[in-house]
Amino acid sequence: MTQPTSLPAWAQLQSLAAAPQPHLRDVLPSDTGRAARMNLKAAGIELDASRQRVSPAIQQALNHLAEQAGVARQRDAMFKGEHINNTEDRPVLHVALRGDPLHTGPWGTAVQSDVQRELARICDFAEALRAGTVRGHAGDAITDVVNIGIGGSDLGPRMAADALAHLAHPGVRVHYVSNPDAWALWSVLRHLDAKRTLLIVSSKTFTTQETLTNAASAQRWLTDNGCPADALSRHLVAITASPAQAAKLGYPAERTFLFWDWVGGRYSVWSALGLPLAIAIGAEHFRLFLAGARAMDEHFRSTPLAQNLPVQMALHGLWNRNFLRLPTHLIVPYASRLGRFTPFVQQMDMESNGKHTHLDGTPATVDTGPIVWGGLGIDGQHAYFQLIHQGKHTVPVDFIGVQNEDTPLPLAATHHEVVNLNLRAQAEAMAFGRSLTDTQAALQKEGLSESEARAMAPHRSFDGNIPSHILWLDRLDPARLGALIALYEHKVFTQAAIWNINAYDQWGVELGKTMAKAMAKNAAA
Ligand code: F6P
Repeated sequence: MTQPTSLPAWAQLQSLAAAPQPHLRDVLPSDTGRAARMNLKAAGIELDASRQRVSPAIQQALNHLAEQAGVARQRDAMFKGEHINNTEDRPVLHVALRGDPLHTGPWGTAVQSDVQRELARICDFAEALRAGTVRGHAGDAITDVVNIGIGGSDLGPRMAADALAHLAHPGVRVHYVSNPDAWALWSVLRHLDAKRTLLIVSSKTFTTQETLTNAASAQRWLTDNGCPADALSRHLVAITASPAQAAKLGYPAERTFLFWDWVGGRYSVWSALGLPLAIAIGAEHFRLFLAGARAMDEHFRSTPLAQNLPVQMALHGLWNRNFLRLPTHLIVPYASRLGRFTPFVQQMDMESNGKHTHLDGTPATVDTGPIVWGGLGIDGQHAYFQLIHQGKHTVPVDFIGVQNEDTPLPLAATHHEVVNLNLRAQAEAMAFGRSLTDTQAALQKEGLSESEARAMAPHRSFDGNIPSHILWLDRLDPARLGALIALYEHKVFTQAAIWNINAYDQWGVELGKTMAKAMAKNAAA
């Protein structure tokens, strides 16, 4: 366990950060090899990192930091199933969930056979439901599935189902309810026929108050709408790492799909928790989704750190967070199907790396996870991008674009061009900005007098120098989506490895939960 500040590269990066650095508008035109040097590809994803405020010397020191922090050793420990989640004394093996079905990975045969057994079970169930052979109490085929879960038991499958909506089964709709506000559940149920509705209750612990409140209410809706109490199980599925808890609440074992305590909720979309997604897109596409993540895992495991896509994203993020002292990180996908990607990564990153202690429990001596925020870029352009361009915060950005699109609309190519041109223009505008002098000259060219232009120029100039990544997916399909999620997972892992924190517990969410439970108990007394 090495404290980051004791690594020689940390001190070197501090002195590099203290020295004046040229503006991106000066670096980008003059450093002609930069685009090629700072471009990495893996698993159908290309990273253009040329707009990071990282010189070759900084890049080299960052690579040394990753080496000195033992990122490769820590990565191998994760894949081997060592108990890297030290506060819960558990391995962290979401990577095993997307392992090669034919070859056991470093996690060993016991994990492999559990994973493959549950994967086969969810794939069979998803296919049966899609084929109309999963039936309700009156013999009707299920047409609507309601996933009830929150946090990691909601965000992953919901996000992925949106991203792959073009592959959704036309006759089976999958709905998601996370919020325990009654309206959230009612707004879904009021459109459904109870005879044809299946509830999936997704909860790793099966003790989450919000989920159990919604599940009990939805079951009551089923019985109130004609489902005999003794036939309820035909409309219920549980997905959990606590099967005993689910059984206690009446969920039958044959409709309970399992994952394990070594899968963090925010890393569980690859597990049985992916059942709602598998129902929507089919087992074959679900397996391609896993294969895409596996391709990114293989890249992460086998590529030298200096060419390793998740490691490089992590290092640039760390430079921005710890050395440029930028506390937030914006993620803006430009493909509308990725509309839920940012909230998904927000949980993954902030619940993992929002930590104030090192692994040994001593107070963190460095800044840890940034505030992750954002949403669809095009919409952001007409909302908060003003602050990015001219506000008093410098906000590093990940732009996410898709190169090839095949929406069956006659003018789809025009739409696609508009979207991607906007992405490129924003990345350029943020990097270059526009100096006062250039702004004044531009305004005079537009017809303003010299004094008018001088008065207006401060309002219309841009500091620029905003660091960004562009991630290009060659297309948005199950494999690329799997790879994209795995990329962010490994980025988060790498940052935690360097910060010497545990990315896989989440004690920070407990205090509020305990207080809510205590308040409920007091109110009932
Ligand atoms: O409160 C946070 C959290 O524990 C997340 O880590 C988790 O994804 C979510 O709640 C839901 O938990 P569960 O799947 O156990 O219902």
